[in-house]
Amino acid sequence: MKRCHHLCRLLPLWLSLVILSFSHISYGDNVTYDHRALVINGVRRVLISGSIHYPRSTPEMWPDLIQKAKNGGLDVVETYIFWNLHEPVQGQYDFEGRKDIVKFVKTVAEAGLYVHLRIGPYVCAEWNYGGFPLWLHFIPGIKFRTDNEPFKTEMQRFTAKIVDLMKQENLYASQGGPIILSQIENEYGLIDSAYGAAAQRYIQWSASMALSLDTGVPWVMCQQSDAPDPIINTCNGFYCDEFSPNSSNKPKMWTENYSGWFLSFGGSAPYRPPQDLAFAVARFFQRGGTFQNYYMYQGGTNFGRTTGGPFIATSYDYDAPIDEYGLLNQPKWGHLRDLHKVIKQCEPALIATDPAYTSLGQNLEAHVYKTSSGACAAFLANINTQDATVKFNGKTYKLPGWSVSILPDCENVVYNTAQINSQETTSEMRYLNSSSEGTDQPLSRLSSSGWSYIKEPVGISKADAFTRNGLVEQINTTADASDYLWYSISFNITMGEPWLISGAQTLLHVESLGHVLRVFVNGFYIGGVMGNARSAKISLSKLIILNKGKNTIDLLSATVGLQNFGAFFDLSGAGVTGPVTLSANSVTFDLSPYVWTYQTGLKGEDMSLFDVSDDSASLWLSDSTLPTNVPLVWYKMQFKAPAGNDPVAIDFTGMGKGEAWINGQSIGRFWPTYTAPLSGCSNSCNYKGTYSSSKCLKNCGKPSQQLYHVPRSFLKGANTMVVFEEEGGDPTKISFATRHTGSLCAHVSEMHPAPVNFVLYPELAVSKQKLGPMVHLTCPGPDQLINEVKFASFGTPQGTCGSYSHGKCSSTNALSVVQQACVGTSSCSVPVSIKAFGDPCRGVTKSLAIEATCSS
Ligand code: GAL
Repeated sequence: MKRCHHLCRLLPLWLSLVILSFSHISYGDNVTYDHRALVINGVRRVLISGSIHYPRSTPEMWPDLIQKAKNGGLDVVETYIFWNLHEPVQGQYDFEGRKDIVKFVKTVAEAGLYVHLRIGPYVCAEWNYGGFPLWLHFIPGIKFRTDNEPFKTEMQRFTAKIVDLMKQENLYASQGGPIILSQIENEYGLIDSAYGAAAQRYIQWSASMALSLDTGVPWVMCQQSDAPDPIINTCNGFYCDEFSPNSSNKPKMWTENYSGWFLSFGGSAPYRPPQDLAFAVARFFQRGGTFQNYYMYQGGTNFGRTTGGPFIATSYDYDAPIDEYGLLNQPKWGHLRDLHKVIKQCEPALIATDPAYTSLGQNLEAHVYKTSSGACAAFLANINTQDATVKFNGKTYKLPGWSVSILPDCENVVYNTAQINSQETTSEMRYLNSSSEGTDQPLSRLSSSGWSYIKEPVGISKADAFTRNGLVEQINTTADASDYLWYSISFNITMGEPWLISGAQTLLHVESLGHVLRVFVNGFYIGGVMGNARSAKISLSKLIILNKGKNTIDLLSATVGLQNFGAFFDLSGAGVTGPVTLSANSVTFDLSPYVWTYQTGLKGEDMSLFDVSDDSASLWLSDSTLPTNVPLVWYKMQFKAPAGNDPVAIDFTGMGKGEAWINGQSIGRFWPTYTAPLSGCSNSCNYKGTYSSSKCLKNCGKPSQQLYHVPRSFLKGANTMVVFEEEGGDPTKISFATRHTGSLCAHVSEMHPAPVNFVLYPELAVSKQKLGPMVHLTCPGPDQLINEVKFASFGTPQGTCGSYSHGKCSSTNALSVVQQACVGTSSCSVPVSIKAFGDPCRGVTKSLAIEATCSS
């Protein structure tokens, strides 16, 4: 006690200073902008932002995701607002659970980060119907996204509703909250020419409507080169360094930098190499940018029927820095964290001045931010794919191909976008078997009988079915209340019809706008056909056998997410357009204009079979004849939640296509039978050269999506899973898995800069000498320790994480040096230098590769 003199008394003051400097929510922030940057309380800011869409994870996941975003060096979290989630029925709002946007914004604020709220209300986002509620389509006289009164009335009402909600909760920065920026519309500039002269009026109106809502913070329009003042037009794309805003009073801002790309059913999985992503970011800040947002920073999951489309997959992982399950996607997360640290180190110079450009050779560029007060930051870029050596300020620098070196003091390279110091981790799924093999506990089924089932009737079974002459468009008919619409027709056959071959056979032909069609003749499934993300249109031709007397053809048409992108996307229809014909011997009979009976949705949907209430309990059959590999079956099973807290996934291998619910909550559509094309993939895509969404693909020939995330908060001790199988599958093959970090790897060369941490915080350095490159490994879990070094090589090791091998040159003591430094610790640093390992080959550039594992 006695030792507590003035230090103790100073502590509360010191603490409150720390709190003040880390939290911007205790007082109102004044947010404006000038030609360099957003200006918060009079200070220009360099801001790193990332998209995390609240309904694509759960409130239980939000704090951890946001903390990981903060640890990754983000200042801002961006989210769209999803109108169709919040107003499913006109005038009836829902802000509960995953839809609790207020809670999400407050969670971001609690972490001390800012929010960019992109209200839209058109959002695109691979979200059903681009975020618009379907009821909007049925308002008489409405035309979306143009100068149309009914549309503008609704858009204004909803935008104002969201702004009011935020204001009531004091969430705008001007009120002391975290929201520093809002967006109106979304990439309208990409398609506005299709709307003619009305487009201009609509943009003007959108701008003044947004401004009239008086949020006290700036508004942006992305990809809108004619955004009216004072709205800032921003850039979206894989690269935005060449972008400049439409006024010299506006800052250069990048609202969508794609960290990867989205997955479609039937497509392969896109990924974007971290070196190229970091290159794009560095180029942007090199050339005057001051606000950059990753789309996505965590992509998450499209639960329920929220995917856009058509054919957007349930996983929205996006190869983002945080994966779908909430685990770090390494080395991407770490490589960007290092980049953010360096950029922040450059911030005083970046905000003080415009960059001065000098050419260092062909496609070799230097940009220098130098202030009169002595701050200086430089970016040296090599836009060629070949390595280069350049002279800058009298010194020589090696610039790897397609890379940017950042020199926060205009002299020392602290970071190069192509040289990854961060560790890589592999993620693995551990399967829980119903047998007790392996180290994992088995997945316990609660009911000894396992699966029970209910057959969904083929064709018309509901009382609200109706008839029409001719074929109807699907979305106008179902209003998207369900994926499904039955088209049913019955007719008599005398056997004398000219369009019958050898008595009863005929060719049935069906044309549809998509997205999926299943055909039943007299109750029997005769085949299905599906479109793809590029073209949803489908047709089916099949020889069928008809009966003498009455015959029924039932066509089940299914949508897989409604169109979310493009001019007039809201009008792209779905379903059987016809003709539907029977033919033989060049004689065709067209069934299309006759009387068809229609049913929106399934009987099981009407009965809420996915619900866990006991209402339907007696209907579920659990006899020994569990139907498998037949279409249209509801299945149910009870299971215990996998032990522990690791993220959970269901592997739907063995099933066809459908939707699954856990305790009544839909985890989305599953479709493991829709596989990616056989070609076009490469597992080690070259990061050098311009990236595009089809450049780096993996998973060719495999199911586009096999694993489906079940958030932990959906699970309790005893759980019920209900599955609707549309195509035919075997539910007993469904398996559960938990997601873990596998190996920790790193591969760092002598040419790499020292780790950013050590350069920025020299007090952390082990010695005062000039630091060189280092491998730094950290176990992901708080209680984990490195338990094994599987591989270590200093010299010229080759390969990738999980398959490293020694090169011609390798030091003999690498394994023991690394083991000594790392085993038993939660994190370790090993210098990449001949001091630590000796020199196994003079004159050769050496590197250190390590693969280690952590205790579970
Ligand atoms: C953009 C759009 C985003 C998202 C993205 C692709 O054009 O603004 O909402 O759809 O493409 O993921």
